[in-house]
Amino acid sequence: MAKDYSKYFTTPSIKDARKRKTKETVVIDYNDYFNIKGFGKNKTYRIETFGCQANEADTEKITGILEQLEFTESNTLKDADLILLNTCAVRENAENRVFGELGRLKQFKKNNPDLILGVCGCMPQEEKVVNRILKKFHYVDLVFGTHNIYKLPQYLETVILSKERVIEVFSEEGNIVENMPRIRENAKKAWVNIMFGCDEFCTYCIVPYTRGKERSRLPEHIIEEIKELILEGYQEITLLGQNVNSYGNDFTDKDYKFSDLLTDLHKMDIARIRFTTSHPKDFNLETVKILSKGGNLMPYIHLPVQSGSNEVLKRMNRKYTKESYLELVKNIYKYIPTASLTTDIIVGFPGETEEQFQETLDLVKECNFEGAFTFIYSKREGTPAEHYEDTVTMEEKKQHLYKLNKIVNDGYLRGTKRFEGKIVKVLVDGFSKNNDAILAGYTENNKLVNFSGDSSLIGTIVNVKITTAKTWFMLGEQVG
Ligand code: 5AD
Ligand code: SF4
Repeated sequence: MAKDYSKYFTTPSIKDARKRKTKETVVIDYNDYFNIKGFGKNKTYRIETFGCQANEADTEKITGILEQLEFTESNTLKDADLILLNTCAVRENAENRVFGELGRLKQFKKNNPDLILGVCGCMPQEEKVVNRILKKFHYVDLVFGTHNIYKLPQYLETVILSKERVIEVFSEEGNIVENMPRIRENAKKAWVNIMFGCDEFCTYCIVPYTRGKERSRLPEHIIEEIKELILEGYQEITLLGQNVNSYGNDFTDKDYKFSDLLTDLHKMDIARIRFTTSHPKDFNLETVKILSKGGNLMPYIHLPVQSGSNEVLKRMNRKYTKESYLELVKNIYKYIPTASLTTDIIVGFPGETEEQFQETLDLVKECNFEGAFTFIYSKREGTPAEHYEDTVTMEEKKQHLYKLNKIVNDGYLRGTKRFEGKIVKVLVDGFSKNNDAILAGYTENNKLVNFSGDSSLIGTIVNVKITTAKTWFMLGEQVG
């Protein structure tokens, strides 16, 4: 007889995820929650991460929890006792990759029936995904979402000790969980979440449904975390949020915004501060002026525009115009003349005309972007644009993407060429992927540089004279 799993099931609802009732955010302390220890002893894990930096940051927390439970990382997938897929729902092809991977892992489960296979992150926040896993992927043992990572020890205890399947996804507005254990991927560069969720509801985007309402971490918690990172020798911090420029808008008892946070971090003894992602609607002149102070505030801004047509921007619910975007860009270059700007663009949004696409190309040229992530629109179930009439053929969308990328690539090259002959500061990440006599690192403007040097330079900031600029990287020589 089929087992009754219902007591372990809490499935998502996109309808519930849409509701925003309160501005109040509950802060949970992870340490108040858990005292389960040791049942990962002699067991290994492997996590595969898909998607954006928010997912990478979550993976570091999941890793922290697993290591606290005494699991150890496996070098290969095939030897792992626990495999978790931390998934992305932003476009259909990201989801297809995960389902493909789940198909491949079926064999692993056959070879090792004790293997625990879990799916977490953004995809489980969608009803249709959980239903598909229930129907087609019986061998998945554990499914949880973005709101309940902190309950992972409890889920694993149930799966391991009771051998029961656990599916628990909350479609809630979201809390903040402080003090989760964390194993960071990089010893010198750290992600620091400053806020979670998104309240923008761009009509194409699933994120406000998968990650809940916008909620800002308290400034003292952020500053405390950065102080600890400084003590541990970190050189670079990237502040994370879906719309960092709206940081603090949800505080009901204080007036402390993104510009205040940057002002406070500017005084701290950390070499580099970056942030992502910005929303043009909320990026104010005050923030531009603070960034112009330089120092540890890096001259690199990722500013997704999505489209250069006012009509399309309106239907995307972006809440700014082409003119106001251009004004912001003008101010960024005026106050921070050395700045590098990159962007995100969607082509083939439902109903986008040839003229509207041309407006995007014109805007890209006008903004002098030095890079862009470009995407073909992907329909997301439960979002408003799902119901917009789509008259653009896939062939046209692909052609548009191709045309756009040609201009974007010119921008990448322009962005590296301007450094030829100049001396830049490079934070050295390690040896180059293709050659372990060559070091690789990033400049303040976020350009990849390769140069020869020895391993003692890894993790330090080195002056490098750029000799050759290519589209995707620059070559140089260490100086003084
Ligand atoms: N289709 C295509 N691209 C999308 N993005 C978000 N949602 C979609 C979608 N449904 C892109 C936007 C965003 C980036 C992270 O992903 O450009 O800025
Ligand atoms: Fe999605 Fe728009 Fe929020 Fe970015 S700002 S996460 S595109 S809804």
